[in-house]
Amino acid sequence: MTEIIKAININKIYKTIVDEVCVFENINLSINRGEAVAIVGESGRGKTTLLNILSGLDKPTQGEVIFNNIRIDNLSEEEISDFRNNNIGFIFQHHYLLNDFNALENVLIPFKIRENRTDKNILNYAKELLERVGLKDRIYHYPDQLSGGERQRVAVARAIVHKPLVIFADEPTGSLDRKNAEKVENILWELKKDFNITLIIATHSKEIASMCDRKIEM
Ligand SMILES: Nc1ncnc2c1ncn2[C@@H]1O[C@H](COP(=O)(O)OP(=O)(O)OP(=O)(O)O)[C@@H](O)[C@H]1O
Ligand SMILES: [Mg+2]
Repeated sequence: MTEIIKAININKIYKTIVDEVCVFENINLSINRGEAVAIVGESGRGKTTLLNILSGLDKPTQGEVIFNNIRIDNLSEEEISDFRNNNIGFIFQHHYLLNDFNALENVLIPFKIRENRTDKNILNYAKELLERVGLKDRIYHYPDQLSGGERQRVAVARAIVHKPLVIFADEPTGSLDRKNAEKVENILWELKKDFNITLIIATHSKEIASMCDRKIEM
């Protein structure tokens, strides 16, 4: 088994004007390539904070994060953004679509950042993903012409379209009904099976947690 992510003694303290919040301390963990890991625990325990740190979106106050043998917690802004764009897909708890772009264009964002042309295969794959999340008839809709759950599904397609090494998902199905949640779960698990993609999922869903290989309790 190849280790894909390792956290060594990470702490996180948020400083605000009025106080300091120590979210967690001395977390050590190791995740292997192709594993599906559920991050579980009550609201406010630090699930989102941990995902942000493991994916390089945020830095730990102390400790080290190693991703595919590269230490990422001390990279520069530019290095980390390149690194994220090549290796990581992130499904946010609150989806962030770009309002000036339609559903298909939003899904293609990972490629637009990398190169200024979109290959036909990529275009077709992006459309196929939108179809698979049940949005065949919404491909050209803009975010303000979509429901909340539909926007979430566009965000899922966007996070996986470039087949990243690791997909981080923060409550990926929290705003979806059972039927659409299943569509999203199926795609994630197919990617894991077909491309050995690692899944790290913060979730309150017992269903998703039980599908994972392992649970990390916060
Ligand atoms: N920027 C910040 N400044 C100060 N405190 C913060 C900041 N962001 C988060 N916190 C606090 O850190 C704690 C962990 O937050 P986090 O969002 O990681 O929790 P969570 O486990 O994802 O919760 P939920 O299940 O509700 O999404 C919370 O108590 C929160 O209030
Ligand atoms: Mg959260």
